[in-house]
Amino acid sequence: MNHPTDPHEMTQASSPVGTYAGYMPGFGNDFETEALPGALPQGMNSPQRCNYGLYGEQLSGTAFTANPPERTWCYRIRPSVKHSHRYEKIDLPYWKSAPCVDPDVISLGQYRWDAVPHSDQGLTWLTGMRTMTTAGDVNTQVGMASHIYLITESMVDDYFYSADSELLVVPQEGRLRFATELGIIDLEPKEIAILPRGLVYRVEVLDGPARGFVCENYGQKFELPGRGPIGANCMANPRDFKAPVAAFEDREVSSTVTVKWCGQFHTTKIDQSPLDVVAWHGNYAPYKYDLRTYCPVGAILFDHPDPSIFTVLTAPSGQPGTANIDFVLFRERWMVAEDTFRPPWYHKNIMSELMGNIYGQYDAKPQGFVPGGMSLHNMMLPHGPDRDAFEKASNANLGPDKLDNTMSFMFETRFPQHLTPFAANEAPLQDDYIDCWTSLEKKFDGTPGKK
Ligand SMILES: [Fe+2]
Repeated sequence: MNHPTDPHEMTQASSPVGTYAGYMPGFGNDFETEALPGALPQGMNSPQRCNYGLYGEQLSGTAFTANPPERTWCYRIRPSVKHSHRYEKIDLPYWKSAPCVDPDVISLGQYRWDAVPHSDQGLTWLTGMRTMTTAGDVNTQVGMASHIYLITESMVDDYFYSADSELLVVPQEGRLRFATELGIIDLEPKEIAILPRGLVYRVEVLDGPARGFVCENYGQKFELPGRGPIGANCMANPRDFKAPVAAFEDREVSSTVTVKWCGQFHTTKIDQSPLDVVAWHGNYAPYKYDLRTYCPVGAILFDHPDPSIFTVLTAPSGQPGTANIDFVLFRERWMVAEDTFRPPWYHKNIMSELMGNIYGQYDAKPQGFVPGGMSLHNMMLPHGPDRDAFEKASNANLGPDKLDNTMSFMFETRFPQHLTPFAANEAPLQDDYIDCWTSLEKKFDGTPGKK
């Protein structure tokens, strides 16, 4: 006679089920985590008295009635209103917000920059941010800004949040720790992090100097792109996104909180660390993602799909299919298409494309687009492979070919990107970039069949 299996004979996973220490897997999940046992109320959000004498507080990233709403319940030592006092304005002259249209700067043109070098100045996350371009308008919550960060010093008793924006961080050199209200994210090159609007954190240098790129998203949050006919797998898979487990500190020390609000910076003095969330649950949280887990999909017989095939995250604009920002990744992959010009074709787009090189060599520009460097191809400005790339790709014997040692990305937006004075005058602009197309020759002579 068969008996039902005794559940006590089964081997059960230990709890929590995360397989990556310190983080919880999934994209936009309704997570729950507590740094002290019993700190998280069960079955309700707002008990009459919270365990440990904690204060319950909701952080909302969307309007209450958005579908789905994005919010997180925090159980903290002090409510956030105790981490906020009278504000005074401060100046961070290199961190710009849209609209930032300088009459002396020409944004129309194909631009490329070498990696911005480190200086001997001690720079933090706040003082080391260098805005390259802005697009849209921070006051109406549309558009974006792109930045380079150069960091040598950790923030100490110094905290920050942006009310203006969600930040997408793309390290290129060095390792950073984001100690946030909702937990700790350690970040290194080949990973990205997303820091939601309103989240308080400090940034520490684990291995410096640190350099990287930031996309500041003024609009609707980044989400996973719909895969359409590709189906349920490949590209960025939800399980590879990691949100931190709860972490808190109970430190009573004079501290500063800096707030970016409507493009301006303000500071306030408080008497303790604001990183005092002992437990939280919800779907509005920071996360990181390892770009090496991105599974590219491409042409397997002939021709070349649009670069949207490489979208990691997309921030909608309200007009379907037309992103406020697409974050697009060009990484190692096999090229197998037959009788095909394999690099990106020549094009002129309504979208504005800002690219950065994390490491290696980009196939459309074998020279000049260097790790740490950036390029900008603005709205309705033609561009494409340089002469060497064109000739090589046009004459190559086409067998299976691996593009190796390459990782570049694009912040693409529906809005034109305006250069800041820093990008135009101080950053290492390559004056000769436009010459990379000069030697492209006319091949047409009226002879049919000529290739
Ligand atoms: Fe392009």
